[in-house]
Amino acid sequence: MKLAIDGGTPVRTDPWPAWPPPLDAAQRERVGEVLESGLWGATQGGTACAELTAAFAGLSGVPYGVAVGNATLGLFAALRGLGVRLGDEVIVPAYTFVASATSVLLAGAVPVIVDVDPVDLHLSAGAVEAAVTERTAAIMPVHLAGSPADMDALNAVAARHGLAVVEDAAQAHGATYRGRPIGGLGDAGVYSFQASKAMTAGEGGLIVCREESAYEAIWSVCNLGRKLGGQWYGHPSVGWNLRLTEIQAALLLPWLDRLDGELARRNAFCAAVEREIAGLPVSVVPRPEGTTGDSRHLLMLRLTEPVDKAFLVEAMAAEGVPVDAGYPPLGTMAALTDAGARAEPCPATEEAARSVVWIRQSMLMDDVDRAADVARALAKVLEHRKARP
Ligand SMILES: Cc1ncc(COP(=O)(O)O)c(C=O)c1O
Repeated sequence: MKLAIDGGTPVRTDPWPAWPPPLDAAQRERVGEVLESGLWGATQGGTACAELTAAFAGLSGVPYGVAVGNATLGLFAALRGLGVRLGDEVIVPAYTFVASATSVLLAGAVPVIVDVDPVDLHLSAGAVEAAVTERTAAIMPVHLAGSPADMDALNAVAARHGLAVVEDAAQAHGATYRGRPIGGLGDAGVYSFQASKAMTAGEGGLIVCREESAYEAIWSVCNLGRKLGGQWYGHPSVGWNLRLTEIQAALLLPWLDRLDGELARRNAFCAAVEREIAGLPVSVVPRPEGTTGDSRHLLMLRLTEPVDKAFLVEAMAAEGVPVDAGYPPLGTMAALTDAGARAEPCPATEEAARSVVWIRQSMLMDDVDRAADVARALAKVLEHRKARP
């Protein structure tokens, strides 16, 4: 059978599920109420932002939350609120979205980019330990693809060196680590509601934390340096308006009732892909030890034989089963190093950039029997690549 890029018949012509999923009645009603009320901003007396923050704090097993405009700003605000200052160093993984590092730059600090575990691709506690200096103030474990970083090991390193821990939970709504919810495992956790995320309002973010003092400081950063309960025009510290709108919060609230079902659906699809690809030169990237709940934002697949990734991405798209080439190592981004980021050697991340591709969350929402399409397209493309010049 000829490859679709060579004029053959594609494995699949049906569309994959759209993201976001269609609006449901509860979302229409909730957003409608806010629109009718005229209380669109977060400081006008509406309740949606407050309900969303309380719900996410609860979901994360902590008492406090602050809703923000996006997770990039949320990570920045969490770092500032936890005391990260100009010239401090913050250790981030090399295999992540660029915002994990640019949020550090926004706080005036230096992102120190270190390698990930070669097997599960999450921030490596050993690499963190090796990169700590007297200027290190914080670490940022990323719950990559929806599965939790190995928080016990990372928290132990942080505790040994007196470092703050900011969990980048942008991709991991509802994930659990050793039976405990992520987000509340470090000093602060930050979720994203950007368009591609497990819950979305187009944009949005939310910071959760356990300590009242951290909450007050983070809240102040996000509210123009005001003091909680203080005067409206009193600004005892420097801060910004980083708030989420009530309209966005109203869109997100009903989603909380659907989240578990959607996670179960994606997990079932991923398990089926894993079964279907047995025997092919490709495997599912294992989750870190301690993963008990995975939000399956992405399914990461590792090619176990050398393959030209650009060819694979193009050929899979033509077969109707698109895969994503994934992240380049953060340390190879000149914009970051030019802005002052420091990169440690990252061989595991470089290998991941060569050999790992992703299947996106929207595709993982399809009926479980359509997981066979993924395996059929991979089998066809990987078989044909051998015959190509
Ligand atoms: C790991 C990670 N961190 C941070 C962000 C930034 O989130 P936002 O787009 O809400 O600023 C994203 C996604 O966009 C992400 O995937």
